Amino acid sequence: MKEIFPGIFRKGNELYTVNAVPGKRVYGEKLTDNYREWIPDRSKLASAILCGLKEMPVKPGAKIVYLGASTGTTVSHVSDIIGLDGIVYAVEFAERVMRKLMDVAKDRKNIVPILADARKPEDYSWVEECDVVYVDVADPQETELSLRNAEAFLKKGGYMLIAVKSQSIDVTKDPKLVFKEESEKLKDYKILQIVDIDKYQKDHALVVAVNQ
Ligand SMILES: C[S@@+](CC[C@H](N)C(=O)[O-])C[C@H]1O[C@@H](n2cnc3c(N)ncnc32)[C@H](O)[C@@H]1O
Repeated sequence: MKEIFPGIFRKGNELYTVNAVPGKRVYGEKLTDNYREWIPDRSKLASAILCGLKEMPVKPGAKIVYLGASTGTTVSHVSDIIGLDGIVYAVEFAERVMRKLMDVAKDRKNIVPILADARKPEDYSWVEECDVVYVDVADPQETELSLRNAEAFLKKGGYMLIAVKSQSIDVTKDPKLVFKEESEKLKDYKILQIVDIDKYQKDHALVVAVNQ
């Protein structure tokens, strides 16, 4: 197993993080010694790593605002990576999935679950300034929502990671055009990379931008 980014390990085409809760699974993933498999079909961030992500701002000690946390699949790996010096503010508005997220957070002290609408960052304005704003909400207004949250919480030099699904923005357009148009809206940010993750997540890309 080779460490490809701090706290992220690769063996062939498999990714792993070090399990912060040894012996415990979050979503049926494989456990090997102290490692937890990070399944790309279940996580856009894992997909992006396997599809050539060049910079990984989710690293030990990082503070993250995570929008669209769902049941905590990806959030749990973010929690493994950032460790106890980092923190992930996990925003989710669906109560049903929030319950599972709360269970995951019970074992992991660096996850702060927030039941809120990511379109209204003013409702969780107490969140501190962060290194990363990660967005995976599958909303037609996703880019606008990301900008509003970045304005509220992202530090200068911080990163935005936005999982864009072309189908949820405009079903009639070619995905490549949708990704290009969405990234053009991030005009005050420098786009570092648009990672095509279609291999694992149909019609998705991960846009990586920095707040300069
Ligand atoms: C594709 S799933 C996220 C999967 C998750 N990021 C992962 O990798 O484990 C999208 C989630 O965003 C949530 N969501 C959609 N719009 C939202 C909003 N405006 N505020 C908060 N959560 C939202 C949905 O309820 C859903 O759980």
